[in-house]
Amino acid sequence: MSKESYKTKPPSDSAFLIGAEFNDQENLLSLDDSLSELTLLAKTAGLDVVGSETQKRARPHPKTFIGSGKVEEVKLFAEELDAQVIIFDEELSPRHQRELEKLFGEDMRVLDRTALILDIFAQHASTREGALQVELAQYEYRLPRLTRAWTHLARQAGGGGGRTGSAGGVGLRGPGETQLEVDRRDIRRRISHLRAELDKVRAHRQRHRAQRKRSRIPIVALVGYTNAGKSTLLNGLAASDVYVADQLFATLDPTTRRVELPDGTPILFTDTVGFIQKLPTMLVAAFRATLEEIAEADLLLHVLDITHPNVHAQAEAVLQTLKEIDADHIPILTALNKIDRLHDPGAARLALDAFPDAVAISALRHEGIGDLLAAIQRQLFEFYTPLDMLLPYSEGRLISLFHAQGEVELVEHTHKGVHIRGRLPGRYLAQFKSFLPEVADNEDAQEVEG
Ligand code: GTP
Repeated sequence: MSKESYKTKPPSDSAFLIGAEFNDQENLLSLDDSLSELTLLAKTAGLDVVGSETQKRARPHPKTFIGSGKVEEVKLFAEELDAQVIIFDEELSPRHQRELEKLFGEDMRVLDRTALILDIFAQHASTREGALQVELAQYEYRLPRLTRAWTHLARQAGGGGGRTGSAGGVGLRGPGETQLEVDRRDIRRRISHLRAELDKVRAHRQRHRAQRKRSRIPIVALVGYTNAGKSTLLNGLAASDVYVADQLFATLDPTTRRVELPDGTPILFTDTVGFIQKLPTMLVAAFRATLEEIAEADLLLHVLDITHPNVHAQAEAVLQTLKEIDADHIPILTALNKIDRLHDPGAARLALDAFPDAVAISALRHEGIGDLLAAIQRQLFEFYTPLDMLLPYSEGRLISLFHAQGEVELVEHTHKGVHIRGRLPGRYLAQFKSFLPEVADNEDAQEVEG
């Protein structure tokens, strides 16, 4: 087996894919659909998919994940098709990985969905923070799976980049240490170094974010399944040149653009990483800091590719990830994208029936964008109302609620109570009713939800 077992080498390695379904597993996508998605992921990583196999089992085989007979069968197929890489559509435990590597032999690399996604992320990370996050996730993934000498990693890095033990561990071995132990130690050291670097970069970003918050410009975060069209929409909205490609995870790092609403109010749009079903938990963890941008938005704009056959499962995967990153409390507006591809009016109507509050758009043709901006304006300002009021000190609960759920502009402690000015999502307004002398003078705030 090549020592670079977790690196796919674009452009033309041939890959054979394996999908497995187990009885006690809840899946958003069918076995075949998930495998089609894996095919797209493999292509995005620069691999050539030459074949695939699936297996349904009660549970994973304790040693070989799929049945051992199936392993033999796949091995024969894969060899016949001249594949160099086997990719499993599920995350393999370190034990499964080791067993399978033994069974498939030296000349075949065994990867899983997580390794593949990590590889794509590594290819697409363009900011320093993104690159650090991916590298950290890759090392954390590798550490428990390390079975052979790891000298290639140090050589790959060209000896630079502040990498500790950059001679690949050779010559750094302490008394009685095996090469494997040295490699593990090197990885651990690299992990601590990356964590420290990330802390620095994050502190810098948090200062920026705080500044942005202080500027009080509402933030709309674009969320959506990978390839739904978020970057295209942002390009169209802000005439920016965010990278757009028909690939999964073309955009990895959040990009922020300033856009004006129909009434001239400026808002900030941030594009975020595309979501995907079975997004490895370690990746969600690695990107938590980046995804926090989402959790601080005033509104989420969920972009759906309405022409995708699995649009409902994709929407569900996005909502699940939002829950995982504690962003499910933020109001969501849904945009059904790519309507230019819906030639059958019946299909268009069905789509709109399924998502009744959504706005239909074509990011590519710039259709429906006016309606979308108007809907955003309504969501932000009609359901998010400016307030200026005096709350008696006895109303501690309301004062905390305002701080927790609203955006506070001013707090003054007077002898009569706390004078608060800011904005509050409309759904909380009723509770403050008896303390509202007037709703601050803002023409957009006529309608109040609930
Ligand atoms: P990730 O970076 O993977 O999260 O993708 P994304 O959601 O940013 O998607 P992106 O904007 O890169 O678009 C993906 C593909 O869909 C590109 O080929 C776009 O040209 C195409 N696309 C986006 N919007 C539309 C649309 O309204 N109509 C059509 N026909 N294609 C679109």
